[in-house]
Amino acid sequence: MVFESTNELWNINVEQLRNNPNMKPRKNPMHNRFVDTSVDVFKKFNMPLEYTDRGAHNYIFRNDDFVIRVSRKKFSLLSNDEFDGNIDDIDDDYISFHIKSQDEVMLSKACKMGISPRVYYYGNILIDDNIHRFCIFESYRTSLFKFIKRNKMLTVIDDIETTHYNNLQEIIDDIVDQMEDLINNIVSQNIVYYDLKPENVVINYDTNKSLDLKIIDWDSDFCIEEEFMKIEEYKECAKFLMMLIITAYMNIYLKNKGFNKRLGELYNEKLLPNIYYLLFDVRTEFMTIILQYFYNSFDMTLRSKDDFDERNEFMKEKAKTNFVRLIEKCIS
Ligand SMILES: Nc1ncnc2c1ncn2[C@@H]1O[C@H](COP(=O)(O)OP(=O)(O)O)[C@@H](O)[C@H]1O
Ligand SMILES: [Mg+2]
Repeated sequence: MVFESTNELWNINVEQLRNNPNMKPRKNPMHNRFVDTSVDVFKKFNMPLEYTDRGAHNYIFRNDDFVIRVSRKKFSLLSNDEFDGNIDDIDDDYISFHIKSQDEVMLSKACKMGISPRVYYYGNILIDDNIHRFCIFESYRTSLFKFIKRNKMLTVIDDIETTHYNNLQEIIDDIVDQMEDLINNIVSQNIVYYDLKPENVVINYDTNKSLDLKIIDWDSDFCIEEEFMKIEEYKECAKFLMMLIITAYMNIYLKNKGFNKRLGELYNEKLLPNIYYLLFDVRTEFMTIILQYFYNSFDMTLRSKDDFDERNEFMKEKAKTNFVRLIEKCIS
């Protein structure tokens, strides 16, 4: 099959985008005739060929203006029906139209709400004779993870004459405020973002300007519009749990307690029965995240959500105790 680059790609005016980043994203239909060649895409956006980040599911290429995010899994140009017939659902090499379009719907929603960096383009790209799904984003300077880990906070207030902030505390307070605003926004759409870790938050910073935080990685496995979010009490729990998860990452992996005080303000023991309902009865993805990343630090040797048996009362009681210890650690 011979592929040509799409008109959509050629019609993008890169200069215009740089000057006017508010342009609407072009949603490229997932057709099976057009695929942009990697040479065309990388040349168009003046992108280095070395990736800057390799996440669990994507390669990230980046310059000062743009990010190219390429799905690591191959994308099949078979139609949905053909895909179902030809490619095993559990074939780890491929990602389906269905999943990828769900991902893109979620991302477009986040972009429209202004809580994701802007997305300019979705398309198919040919790399090493394989087709992958990709999109072009607005580039942010770094992730919250690197910002904290590499002490970038210090560089923001380095030049005290020209800085927007007076001290480190003001910076951390602003980060916490913005994070809470982002979470409130997500919650208001009845969406739960389960994987809220510092790697999935990006930051722009510049001399004499305030920080600007956004959330990335809107893939539909961990960003879900949930029925239970229609009920106010569960909304409050989900907000608390999202805040708990990012606070736990900051505490355990980055040894940073910046979020602890705010989490303490959001906490109320009365939330616990509803939280247990979401964790054990609804078995939301919160359970996966907490088991996966945080139970180890409390001698709970379970490996995955599947090892957890909520009918085992002993296990359940131990999980509750560990969970409350996680909260206590994160609010003190
Ligand atoms: N728009 C962006 N601006 C700056 N850095 C980004 C951007 N998008 C992704 N990154 C970097 O790439 C990493 C992985 O991106 P992500 O979209 O989370 O992929 P994955 O799904 O593979 O985790 C992030 O942790 C961040 O450091
Ligand atoms: Mg990620």
